[in-house]
Amino acid sequence: MDLRGIVLAGGTGSRLRPLTKVTNKHLLPVGCKPMIYYPIEKLTGVGIEEILIVTGVEHMGDVVGLLGSGREFGCRFTYKVQDEAGGIAQALGLAENFANGQPLAVILGDNIFEDSLCEHARHFMDQGMGSRLLLKEVSDPERFGVAEIQGDRVVGIEEKPKDPKSNFAIIGVYFYDATVFDIIRQLRPSGRGELEITDVNNAYVERGQMTSEVLQGWWTDAGTFGSLSKANELVRKEPPK
Ligand code: DAU
Repeated sequence: MDLRGIVLAGGTGSRLRPLTKVTNKHLLPVGCKPMIYYPIEKLTGVGIEEILIVTGVEHMGDVVGLLGSGREFGCRFTYKVQDEAGGIAQALGLAENFANGQPLAVILGDNIFEDSLCEHARHFMDQGMGSRLLLKEVSDPERFGVAEIQGDRVVGIEEKPKDPKSNFAIIGVYFYDATVFDIIRQLRPSGRGELEITDVNNAYVERGQMTSEVLQGWWTDAGTFGSLSKANELVRKEPPK
């Protein structure tokens, strides 16, 4: 598989303090594994062999100590430090050399879900260019990036809108072609001082190159006490495929 994988595991984990006072959010337990195992296994499940892990400088040692070379997972890990939590798009921007012009499957390190990524990755590779997002219908879309869709086309995205235009949350799985780095270079920090992944995605929407697909199985992030406990419950009841 020509796709390269990226797991974004930086950020401050501030919504989980004090659990994250001395450790990285993605090292916390979910079921019987550290959280970061789940996104990694989603990528290796597609047959991806080259995976970049991005995390902050404070916890890089622990992350490398846990994951090693990738031998245990049947892949090769490359590691990159994000000096400060400047946003998801900033973290992704660090991956340009690693990507080496190849298409990318990017996963946020706190996203846990049931479905395999195999079909979705194939559909993106068939698409051949642009970007593809995965969506999940939720009852609280205002907590997430929200997509407005027409068929499988995404026609607009809003980050944590007060009045969401749909119930389709954008989950933290993104497929991109190599032009994503040109887009990231043009970004300016948002009101909260971060380079926003939603601005990256809207650049693809403006080009008419953003498609989407809705997940069938369960999905949650695990970045708050509520969602972390939900993630633990879900993996126990119905382990991810
Ligand atoms: O979980 C899906 C949601 O994730 C999407 O619906 C939103 O559009 C997207 O912005 C994101 O929202 P969050 O508020 O959950 O993002 P958060 O700041 O919690 O970051 C999610 C992950 O991204 C985190 O587990 C690690 C990574 N990250 C984040 C930041 C801010 C980095 O690697 N570096 C960063 O600087």
